[in-house]
Amino acid sequence: MKHFISISDLTKKEIEDIFSLTDEVKAKKDRFKEALNGKSLALIFQKPSNRTRVSFEAGMTQLGGHAIYLGPDDIKLGVREAIKDVAKVLSGYVDGIVARTFSHNDVLELAQNAAVPVINGLSDLMHPCQAMADVYTIREKLGGLSGIKLAFVGDGNNVLNSLLQCAVKIGINMSIAAPKGYEPKKEIIKGAMADAAKSGSRVFFTNDPADAAKDAQVLYTDVWTSMGQEKEYKKRLNDFKGFQVNKKLLAFAKKGCLVMHCLPAHRGEEITDEVLDGPNSIVIQEAENRLHVQKAILLKLLDGVK
Ligand code: CP
Ligand code: NVA
Repeated sequence: MKHFISISDLTKKEIEDIFSLTDEVKAKKDRFKEALNGKSLALIFQKPSNRTRVSFEAGMTQLGGHAIYLGPDDIKLGVREAIKDVAKVLSGYVDGIVARTFSHNDVLELAQNAAVPVINGLSDLMHPCQAMADVYTIREKLGGLSGIKLAFVGDGNNVLNSLLQCAVKIGINMSIAAPKGYEPKKEIIKGAMADAAKSGSRVFFTNDPADAAKDAQVLYTDVWTSMGQEKEYKKRLNDFKGFQVNKKLLAFAKKGCLVMHCLPAHRGEEITDEVLDGPNSIVIQEAENRLHVQKAILLKLLDGVK
Protein backbone atom coordinates (compact mmCIF):
# COMPACT_ATOMS: atom_id res chain seq x y z
CA MET A 1 0.00 0.00 0.00
CA LYS A 2 1.81 3.14 -1.22
CA HIS A 3 -1.10 5.56 -1.54
CA PHE A 4 -4.67 5.57 -0.23
CA ILE A 5 -6.76 6.80 -3.13
CA SER A 6 -9.55 4.29 -3.64
CA ILE A 7 -10.86 1.30 -1.69
CA SER A 8 -10.86 -0.66 -4.94
CA ASP A 9 -7.04 -0.65 -4.74
CA LEU A 10 -7.11 -2.57 -1.44
CA THR A 11 -7.41 -6.28 -0.80
CA LYS A 12 -9.82 -7.69 1.75
CA LYS A 13 -6.81 -8.54 3.93
CA GLU A 14 -5.47 -4.97 3.77
CA ILE A 15 -8.87 -3.65 4.89
CA GLU A 16 -9.01 -6.16 7.74
CA ASP A 17 -5.44 -5.29 8.78
CA ILE A 18 -6.35 -1.59 8.98
CA PHE A 19 -9.37 -2.50 11.13
CA SER A 20 -7.23 -4.64 13.47
CA LEU A 21 -4.69 -1.84 13.82
CA THR A 22 -7.56 0.59 14.45
CA ASP A 23 -8.70 -1.65 17.34
CA GLU A 24 -5.23 -1.30 18.87
CA VAL A 25 -4.94 2.43 18.20
CA LYS A 26 -8.30 2.99 19.82
CA ALA A 27 -7.68 0.75 22.83
CA LYS A 28 -4.06 1.69 23.52
CA LYS A 29 -3.74 5.33 22.53
CA ASP A 30 -0.47 5.86 24.45
CA ARG A 31 1.33 3.05 22.69
CA PHE A 32 1.45 5.01 19.44
CA LYS A 33 2.15 8.49 20.79
CA GLU A 34 5.67 8.58 19.38
CA ALA A 35 5.11 6.40 16.32
CA LEU A 36 5.33 9.28 13.84
CA ASN A 37 7.86 11.43 15.73
CA GLY A 38 9.32 14.11 13.51
CA LYS A 39 6.99 13.31 10.59
CA SER A 40 4.85 15.89 8.81
CA LEU A 41 1.65 15.63 6.81
CA ALA A 42 0.45 18.27 4.34
CA LEU A 43 -3.32 18.71 4.00
CA ILE A 44 -4.26 20.24 0.64
CA PHE A 45 -7.94 21.17 0.84
CA GLN A 46 -9.86 22.74 -2.06
CA LYS A 47 -13.16 22.39 -0.16
CA PRO A 48 -14.31 23.05 3.43
CA SER A 49 -14.02 20.36 6.09
CA ASN A 50 -14.62 19.71 9.75
CA ARG A 51 -14.14 15.97 10.32
CA THR A 52 -11.46 15.23 7.74
CA ARG A 53 -9.25 18.18 8.53
CA VAL A 54 -9.54 18.01 12.32
CA SER A 55 -9.22 14.22 12.56
CA PHE A 56 -6.07 14.22 10.40
CA GLU A 57 -4.53 17.15 12.28
CA ALA A 58 -5.39 15.75 15.73
CA GLY A 59 -4.41 12.25 14.58
CA MET A 60 -0.94 13.39 13.52
CA THR A 61 -0.43 15.17 16.86
CA GLN A 62 -1.56 12.09 18.78
CA LEU A 63 0.98 9.99 16.85
CA GLY A 64 3.85 12.39 17.62
CA GLY A 65 3.83 14.06 14.20
CA HIS A 66 2.67 17.35 12.79
CA ALA A 67 0.12 18.45 10.17
CA ILE A 68 0.19 21.51 7.91
CA TYR A 69 -3.18 22.72 6.63
CA LEU A 70 -3.13 24.28 3.16
CA GLY A 71 -6.58 25.70 2.41
CA PRO A 72 -8.10 26.69 -0.93
CA ASP A 73 -6.23 30.01 -1.00
CA ASP A 74 -2.80 28.66 -0.08
CA ILE A 75 -1.59 26.21 -2.74
CA LYS A 76 -4.22 26.92 -5.41
CA LEU A 77 -3.60 23.49 -6.84
CA GLY A 78 -3.21 23.58 -10.61
CA VAL A 79 -3.85 27.34 -10.75
CA ARG A 80 -0.87 29.00 -9.07
CA GLU A 81 1.29 26.00 -9.81
CA ALA A 82 1.07 22.76 -11.78
CA ILE A 83 -0.11 19.77 -9.73
CA LYS A 84 3.03 17.80 -10.55
CA ASP A 85 5.23 20.64 -9.26
CA VAL A 86 3.24 20.79 -6.01
CA ALA A 87 3.60 17.02 -5.61
CA LYS A 88 7.34 17.00 -6.23
CA VAL A 89 8.13 20.02 -4.05
CA LEU A 90 6.00 18.86 -1.10
CA SER A 91 7.64 15.42 -1.31
CA GLY A 92 10.89 17.10 -0.25
CA TYR A 93 9.28 18.66 2.83
CA VAL A 94 6.72 16.25 4.23
CA ASP A 95 6.18 12.52 4.73
CA GLY A 96 2.64 12.34 3.39
CA ILE A 97 -0.08 14.38 1.67
CA VAL A 98 -3.84 14.36 2.23
CA ALA A 99 -5.76 15.93 -0.64
CA ARG A 100 -9.41 17.06 -0.80
CA THR A 101 -10.15 18.06 -4.37
CA PHE A 102 -12.97 18.70 -6.78
CA SER A 103 -11.65 16.46 -9.55
CA HIS A 104 -10.60 12.91 -8.72
CA ASN A 105 -7.96 13.17 -11.45
CA ASP A 106 -6.18 15.83 -9.38
CA VAL A 107 -5.65 13.34 -6.54
CA LEU A 108 -4.40 10.78 -9.05
CA GLU A 109 -2.00 13.31 -10.57
CA LEU A 110 -0.66 14.20 -7.13
CA ALA A 111 -0.09 10.52 -6.38
CA GLN A 112 1.58 9.88 -9.74
CA ASN A 113 4.09 12.66 -9.08
CA ALA A 114 4.65 12.45 -5.33
CA ALA A 115 7.47 10.49 -3.76
CA VAL A 116 5.47 10.31 -0.50
CA PRO A 117 2.09 8.63 0.15
CA VAL A 118 -1.01 10.50 -0.99
CA ILE A 119 -4.30 10.00 0.86
CA ASN A 120 -7.63 10.90 -0.75
CA GLY A 121 -9.49 13.10 1.74
CA LEU A 122 -12.51 13.27 -0.62
CA SER A 123 -12.79 13.89 -4.33
CA ASP A 124 -15.87 14.24 -6.51
CA LEU A 125 -15.66 10.48 -7.12
CA MET A 126 -14.57 8.90 -3.84
CA HIS A 127 -14.30 9.30 -0.08
CA PRO A 128 -12.32 6.23 0.99
CA CYS A 129 -11.38 7.37 4.52
CA GLN A 130 -15.07 7.88 5.22
CA ALA A 131 -16.00 4.40 3.99
CA MET A 132 -13.27 2.76 6.08
CA ALA A 133 -14.56 4.53 9.20
CA ASP A 134 -18.15 3.64 8.29
CA VAL A 135 -17.51 -0.05 7.83
CA TYR A 136 -15.30 -0.12 10.93
CA THR A 137 -18.21 1.41 12.89
CA ILE A 138 -20.62 -1.23 11.59
CA ARG A 139 -18.14 -3.94 12.61
CA GLU A 140 -17.86 -2.37 16.07
CA LYS A 141 -21.63 -2.10 16.53
CA LEU A 142 -22.71 -5.44 15.02
CA GLY A 143 -19.68 -7.52 15.91
CA GLY A 144 -19.06 -8.70 12.34
CA LEU A 145 -19.52 -7.74 8.71
CA SER A 146 -20.15 -10.75 6.52
CA GLY A 147 -23.77 -11.00 5.34
CA ILE A 148 -24.87 -7.71 6.96
CA LYS A 149 -27.59 -5.91 5.01
CA LEU A 150 -26.62 -2.28 4.41
CA ALA A 151 -29.06 0.02 2.62
CA PHE A 152 -28.07 3.32 1.05
CA VAL A 153 -30.81 5.77 0.11
CA GLY A 154 -29.83 8.90 -1.78
CA ASP A 155 -27.33 10.20 -4.28
CA GLY A 156 -24.90 7.91 -6.15
CA ASN A 157 -22.05 10.15 -5.03
CA ASN A 158 -18.48 9.92 -3.70
CA VAL A 159 -19.62 8.60 -0.30
CA LEU A 160 -21.75 5.85 -1.82
CA ASN A 161 -19.04 4.88 -4.32
CA SER A 162 -16.47 4.24 -1.62
CA LEU A 163 -18.96 2.61 0.73
CA LEU A 164 -20.03 0.23 -2.03
CA GLN A 165 -16.40 -0.55 -2.92
CA CYS A 166 -15.63 -1.35 0.72
CA ALA A 167 -18.80 -3.39 1.27
CA VAL A 168 -18.20 -5.68 -1.69
CA LYS A 169 -14.60 -6.34 -0.67
CA ILE A 170 -15.62 -7.38 2.81
CA GLY A 171 -18.80 -9.41 2.19
CA ILE A 172 -21.49 -6.90 3.16
CA ASN A 173 -24.75 -7.09 1.15
CA MET A 174 -25.93 -3.74 -0.16
CA SER A 175 -29.21 -2.40 -1.43
CA ILE A 176 -29.06 1.00 -3.08
CA ALA A 177 -31.94 3.34 -3.87
CA ALA A 178 -31.16 6.42 -5.95
CA PRO A 179 -33.52 8.43 -8.14
CA LYS A 180 -33.27 7.70 -11.87
CA GLY A 181 -30.22 9.46 -13.28
CA TYR A 182 -28.47 9.66 -9.88
CA GLU A 183 -27.18 6.07 -9.72
CA PRO A 184 -23.42 5.49 -9.36
CA LYS A 185 -21.39 5.69 -12.58
CA LYS A 186 -21.28 2.57 -14.77
CA GLU A 187 -17.56 1.93 -14.17
CA ILE A 188 -18.04 2.05 -10.38
CA ILE A 189 -20.91 -0.47 -10.60
CA LYS A 190 -18.91 -2.71 -12.94
CA GLY A 191 -15.89 -2.80 -10.60
CA ALA A 192 -18.10 -3.35 -7.56
CA MET A 193 -19.96 -6.22 -9.19
CA ALA A 194 -16.67 -7.91 -10.06
CA ASP A 195 -15.51 -7.65 -6.44
CA ALA A 196 -18.92 -8.80 -5.20
CA ALA A 197 -18.64 -11.92 -7.34
CA LYS A 198 -15.37 -12.74 -5.53
CA SER A 199 -16.53 -11.97 -1.99
CA GLY A 200 -20.07 -13.33 -2.33
CA SER A 201 -21.66 -9.94 -1.52
CA ARG A 202 -25.08 -9.33 -3.02
CA VAL A 203 -25.77 -5.88 -4.44
CA PHE A 204 -29.23 -4.71 -5.40
CA PHE A 205 -30.15 -1.45 -7.16
CA THR A 206 -33.61 0.12 -7.10
CA ASN A 207 -35.30 3.49 -7.51
CA ASP A 208 -37.61 2.77 -4.57
CA PRO A 209 -36.28 3.76 -1.11
CA ALA A 210 -38.68 1.43 0.75
CA ASP A 211 -37.50 -1.50 -1.35
CA ALA A 212 -33.88 -0.77 -0.43
CA ALA A 213 -34.62 -0.17 3.25
CA LYS A 214 -36.58 -3.41 3.66
CA ASP A 215 -35.05 -5.54 6.45
CA ALA A 216 -31.85 -3.46 6.45
CA GLN A 217 -29.61 -3.69 9.51
CA VAL A 218 -27.95 -0.41 8.60
CA LEU A 219 -29.54 2.51 6.76
CA TYR A 220 -27.15 5.09 5.32
CA THR A 221 -27.72 8.41 3.62
CA ASP A 222 -25.75 11.48 2.50
CA VAL A 223 -26.59 14.94 1.21
CA TRP A 224 -28.47 15.36 -2.08
CA THR A 225 -26.24 18.26 -3.11
CA SER A 226 -22.54 17.69 -2.59
CA MET A 227 -19.83 20.33 -2.37
CA GLY A 228 -19.33 21.77 -5.85
CA GLN A 229 -22.91 21.02 -6.98
CA GLU A 230 -24.53 24.05 -5.35
CA LYS A 231 -25.89 25.34 -8.68
CA GLU A 232 -28.01 22.18 -8.96
CA TYR A 233 -29.49 22.62 -5.48
CA LYS A 234 -33.08 23.45 -6.50
CA LYS A 235 -33.27 20.74 -9.16
CA ARG A 236 -31.88 18.17 -6.78
CA LEU A 237 -34.37 19.11 -4.03
CA ASN A 238 -37.09 18.26 -6.51
CA ASP A 239 -35.45 15.14 -7.99
CA PHE A 240 -34.78 13.59 -4.57
CA LYS A 241 -38.34 14.02 -3.23
CA GLY A 242 -39.31 10.78 -1.50
CA PHE A 243 -35.70 9.81 -0.78
CA GLN A 244 -35.63 11.21 2.73
CA VAL A 245 -34.58 8.98 5.61
CA ASN A 246 -37.42 9.56 8.07
CA LYS A 247 -39.41 7.54 10.59
CA LYS A 248 -41.65 6.12 7.90
CA LEU A 249 -38.73 4.80 5.86
CA LEU A 250 -36.97 3.47 8.95
CA ALA A 251 -40.07 1.39 9.70
CA PHE A 252 -39.26 -0.79 6.64
CA ALA A 253 -35.85 -1.68 8.11
CA LYS A 254 -35.09 -4.31 10.73
CA LYS A 255 -35.89 -3.41 14.33
CA GLY A 256 -32.93 -1.59 15.86
CA CYS A 257 -31.53 -0.70 12.42
CA LEU A 258 -28.47 1.55 12.70
CA VAL A 259 -28.73 4.92 10.96
CA MET A 260 -25.57 6.37 9.48
CA HIS A 261 -24.59 9.61 7.74
CA CYS A 262 -21.10 10.84 6.94
CA LEU A 263 -22.06 14.39 8.02
CA PRO A 264 -22.43 17.27 7.47
CA ALA A 265 -26.17 16.65 7.13
CA HIS A 266 -28.65 18.92 5.45
CA ARG A 267 -31.25 18.42 8.16
CA GLY A 268 -34.80 18.28 6.84
CA GLU A 269 -33.62 17.30 3.35
CA GLU A 270 -32.06 13.82 3.12
CA ILE A 271 -32.76 13.07 6.80
CA THR A 272 -35.12 14.34 9.47
CA ASP A 273 -33.95 15.75 12.82
CA GLU A 274 -36.02 13.06 14.50
CA VAL A 275 -34.03 10.22 12.89
CA LEU A 276 -30.62 11.92 12.94
CA ASP A 277 -30.96 12.70 16.65
CA GLY A 278 -32.94 9.53 17.44
CA PRO A 279 -31.96 6.27 19.16
CA ASN A 280 -30.99 4.44 15.94
CA SER A 281 -28.49 7.07 14.88
CA ILE A 282 -24.78 6.30 15.34
CA VAL A 283 -23.47 9.31 13.43
CA ILE A 284 -21.36 10.72 16.26
CA GLN A 285 -19.55 7.42 16.89
CA GLU A 286 -19.13 7.12 13.12
CA ALA A 287 -17.55 10.59 12.98
CA GLU A 288 -15.21 9.80 15.90
CA ASN A 289 -14.03 6.66 14.16
CA ARG A 290 -12.66 8.80 11.32
CA LEU A 291 -9.88 9.72 13.75
CA HIS A 292 -9.05 6.17 14.84
CA VAL A 293 -9.18 4.59 11.38
CA GLN A 294 -7.13 7.38 9.80
CA LYS A 295 -4.49 7.02 12.52
CA ALA A 296 -4.19 3.37 11.51
CA ILE A 297 -3.94 4.38 7.83
CA LEU A 298 -1.23 6.93 8.68
CA LEU A 299 0.71 4.36 10.69
CA LYS A 300 0.63 1.92 7.77
CA LEU A 301 1.53 4.47 5.08
CA LEU A 302 4.07 6.51 7.01
CA ASP A 303 5.95 3.48 8.38
CA GLY A 304 4.74 4.00 11.93
CA VAL A 305 4.22 0.30 12.76
CA LYS A 306 7.37 -1.47 13.89
N1 CP B 1 -17.60 13.49 6.53
C1 CP B 1 -16.68 14.40 6.18
O1 CP B 1 -15.76 14.16 5.39
O2 CP B 1 -16.81 15.59 6.82
P1 CP B 1 -16.03 16.93 6.49
O3 CP B 1 -16.47 17.39 5.14
O4 CP B 1 -16.43 17.87 7.60
O5 CP B 1 -14.55 16.64 6.51
N1 NVA C 1 -21.04 13.93 -0.62
C1 NVA C 1 -20.59 14.98 0.25
C2 NVA C 1 -19.77 14.41 1.37
C3 NVA C 1 -19.24 15.40 2.37
C4 NVA C 1 -18.41 14.76 3.41
C5 NVA C 1 -19.80 16.01 -0.54
O1 NVA C 1 -19.00 15.62 -1.40
O2 NVA C 1 -20.01 17.20 -0.32
